[in-house]
Amino acid sequence: MQDISLLLNATIETMHSNEQIIEQLTAQVATFFEQQHADHDFYHIQRVVKLAQKIQEIEGGDYFVVTCAALLHDISDHKLNGGIMNDNGRVSRLYLEELNCSPELTNQICDIVDKVSYKGAGVEDESGSLELKIVRDADRLDAIGAIGIARAFHFGGARNRPFFVPDVTPTNHTSFEAYSSDKIHTINHFYEKLLLLKDRLETETAKQIAQKRHQLMQDFVDQFHAEWEGRDF
Ligand code: ADP
Ligand code: NI
Repeated sequence: MQDISLLLNATIETMHSNEQIIEQLTAQVATFFEQQHADHDFYHIQRVVKLAQKIQEIEGGDYFVVTCAALLHDISDHKLNGGIMNDNGRVSRLYLEELNCSPELTNQICDIVDKVSYKGAGVEDESGSLELKIVRDADRLDAIGAIGIARAFHFGGARNRPFFVPDVTPTNHTSFEAYSSDKIHTINHFYEKLLLLKDRLETETAKQIAQKRHQLMQDFVDQFHAEWEGRDF
């Protein structure tokens, strides 16, 4: 009897501290992303957390790991961490250690943060846990559809890039370095990443959500070319 109550207390204690970690992490990540561009701001993080929790609810996996990894997934982005291309979840580890997250959970979360990024059309995604698949799918769902279109044009505009240059055709990047250093026009980004994402999703739930979002993007680029080439009048 005593053992059970000890176990229950320990479980309640863990649940409580996990909730506290999520709460504190959310506040810290919100502050970190305060100054970021709209293509990559705290609203993006919040949408990814929501999508990831929805997928987790249906597909299983660990709620705490999914939530923390979704919160931290862009914190080690090379565009935000001083240009380090692969920091092995270093920044996430600092946040989680500070909040006394267990080493085992910290490792699981950092592994996801480390592997979440899209690295080019010709670069295979890294394999990992169910929680990695969930967070990566959630991040990718927020890169497609209406919001995906808005983010892409915001990204290009904020960097002063043309949104279309007809004779610059898409590239099949075979390394992250080549992909991330290529200052492409925004329409090419659809062919080099956004239109490819639906076939790189791994959970059934994400694949279903992606259908409408993908179709909208496909219709958008088809109409874009029709207008550019004067085929719609
Ligand atoms: P995430 O890892 O959150 O998917 P990224 O850091 O790769 O996002 O990019 C942020 C947003 O900007 C995404 O919506 C992405 O599609 C868009 N984006 C990234 N690179 C380009 C690009 N070269 N041109 C236009 N949009 C881009
Ligand atoms: Ni992201």
